Amino acid sequence: RPRVLSGIQPTADSFHLGNYLGAVRNWVAMQETHDTFYCVVDLHAITAGHDPEVLRQRTRVSAAQLLAAGLDPDRCTLFVQSQVPEHSQLAWVLSCITGFGEASRMTQFKDKSAKQGADRSSVGLFTYPILQAADILLYQADAVPVGEDQRQHLELTRDLAQRFNTRFGKAFTVPAPYIVKETAKITDLQDPTAKMSKSASSPSGIIELLDDPARSAKKIRSAVTDTGREIVFDAEHKPGIANLLTIYAALSGRTIDDLVAAYDGRGYGDLKKDLAEVVVEFVRPIQERTRAYLDDPAQLDKMLAIGADKAGAVASATLRTTYERVGFLAPA
Ligand code: TYM
Repeated sequence: RPRVLSGIQPTADSFHLGNYLGAVRNWVAMQETHDTFYCVVDLHAITAGHDPEVLRQRTRVSAAQLLAAGLDPDRCTLFVQSQVPEHSQLAWVLSCITGFGEASRMTQFKDKSAKQGADRSSVGLFTYPILQAADILLYQADAVPVGEDQRQHLELTRDLAQRFNTRFGKAFTVPAPYIVKETAKITDLQDPTAKMSKSASSPSGIIELLDDPARSAKKIRSAVTDTGREIVFDAEHKPGIANLLTIYAALSGRTIDDLVAAYDGRGYGDLKKDLAEVVVEFVRPIQERTRAYLDDPAQLDKMLAIGADKAGAVASATLRTTYERVGFLAPA
């Protein structure tokens, strides 16, 4: 089976629909066809300032949500990044073959550091994509299921893998991004040209899986749409409606064409009202299951420790090869 690795940051109280539709939904599906490794990337979550107790709680809530969304610890390896020390260790080696200019060109870094003020940004924020490359390469991943916003980081990962293999001898599989076009960029409900994002300026454009369903329904009903009347899928001229149709199709399993036909002659209000119900029905069971996992944190922590053990076995083998290739003296 081809190998998969992906990760998600525990940087919010809840994942949002963009995280779910762009990434997690595919993680769940790939359990059937791939050898899957998924991690909650807490090392990445400290690059831009955080509170320790909040981080610990969000790490558990993240793992619980992933399980609630359909990850099955018997069919995938689910773990917390900081519990597998090889991630930091490989990141150092990779940072030594990454060009300063190359890292400086990462657009997520440029955006985030511009927001924080360049002088206030941490070096960790700068080297973030190198740690992400380490996450992926440690597991010899063939495919990395992510949303569109991660494409550049995956390009860097591929470059680093090829560079290392050429310079020191083959140690890494060169991974391919796995980006499902239809759901690769879910947009903000209030600004349908921007991606739905944890760091959006207003919470009204984001549907959080763990938010009060009534509030999520209201957000859908008040989503920004254009002035026309017709329900057609036109991402360029009707990005708001296109986004709603995308979400609707993904959550209901219906095709966009089917939805467009079903809403022929009906207004935006009908579409939003129905989608609001679909969203409520979708989040309710996820919330119940998340709560159930969080009711027993000791059991959750144990499950994650088992995941870290399984991940560590793979990661340590790759790190050993890497250390040997770069010329580190093996412990006697
Ligand atoms: P993060 O935590 O920001 O997001 C997790 C996943 O959700 C996807 N995503 C979206 N997809 C579609 N539409 C959106 N609006 C949307 N918003 C977010 C992201 O593309 C991502 O797949 N750097 C990564 C975490 C990471 C990682 C890794 C990923 C660390 N190591 C190794 C893959 C492999 C990040 O910040 O994701």
